[in-house]
Amino acid sequence: MNTLELVSKGGASIIIIGGDSRKFLQGFDPARTLVLADENLLTYHRKKFDSFNIISIGAGEQAKSMTRAIELYHKLLELEVDRSWTLIGAGGGIATDLSGFIASTYLRGISFAFVSTTLLGQVDASIGGKNGVNLDGFKNMIGVINQPAQVFCDIDSLSSLPEREFLAGFAEIVKYGAIRDPEFFEYLERNIESGIKRDAKVLEYMISRSVKNKIEVVQADERELGERKTLNFGHTFAHGFEKLYKIPHGEAVSLGMVLAAKLSVKLGLLEAEKAERIEKLLIRCSLPVSFKWEVEVLAEAMKKDKKRSGGSISFILLKDIGKAVIHKLEVQTLKTVLHDLR
Ligand code: GLY
Repeated sequence: MNTLELVSKGGASIIIIGGDSRKFLQGFDPARTLVLADENLLTYHRKKFDSFNIISIGAGEQAKSMTRAIELYHKLLELEVDRSWTLIGAGGGIATDLSGFIASTYLRGISFAFVSTTLLGQVDASIGGKNGVNLDGFKNMIGVINQPAQVFCDIDSLSSLPEREFLAGFAEIVKYGAIRDPEFFEYLERNIESGIKRDAKVLEYMISRSVKNKIEVVQADERELGERKTLNFGHTFAHGFEKLYKIPHGEAVSLGMVLAAKLSVKLGLLEAEKAERIEKLLIRCSLPVSFKWEVEVLAEAMKKDKKRSGGSISFILLKDIGKAVIHKLEVQTLKTVLHDLR
């Protein structure tokens, strides 16, 4: 078990990376705790939360909506949840993003914690205080930055995660090595297979190191004015892939990182051999690295991405493994480069 702390203007979080959340959950008063849980998690792990009031939020990205949030506010009212209660968001990124948003807005904010049960959620969504919902097909358009009091990354629950969903988490793990931690990237090159085989000790290390990287970035730039933008490496393309081709987030991030690394080479920032190392590592995680996409369609989708300002789109590119830079590209230049890359 590993305990880390995040301290920022949006609050402080204790983050525990451990085997099983049962002991952690004993610290909450069953009479004043409401668990908002992912439906799939309840199928396999309902027993862990049995002593609490539980509401299923359903499953899938459609749960992250204002409509669902309003339904849940009504349920909180029915249960007479007041400011002395704690909300626990349990599940992957959808459950924690939605629960954090509800807890941060209901009664102008009540205490909340997360039990994060997917690899992707543990290394990314549950850490850093971004909580919100989607709007009109655009991701995270409405939300707040507010830190949960505690986060428990439950490694035990990863055992019931379907292989494809589990592997998707490695995209974000590889990302930390690629953008800011070259030593971790080399560790991943040496040990990725042990993580993929779900070796608990190796996973604990990979999750802890990823979380440590994210904590450092969030503490330096919680409101995403500078360094936090680098966490979006591969994401501008990924949001386009997700929206257009309905590819799961982690897989879209893998495709996006390969494309962003190739773009970095094309613009003369990165050596080709380093982009190949990233691609090879993602292939070893059985993540997709190439896909038949249409330049015009992808560029249009990215134009609507919220990272666009004026006529240009901000990209996170690499100068080296472990060295990310923010780079603005005009939409027309982007289209030309995308044609070349394709
Ligand atoms: N998922 C990126 C961030 O938390 O900033």
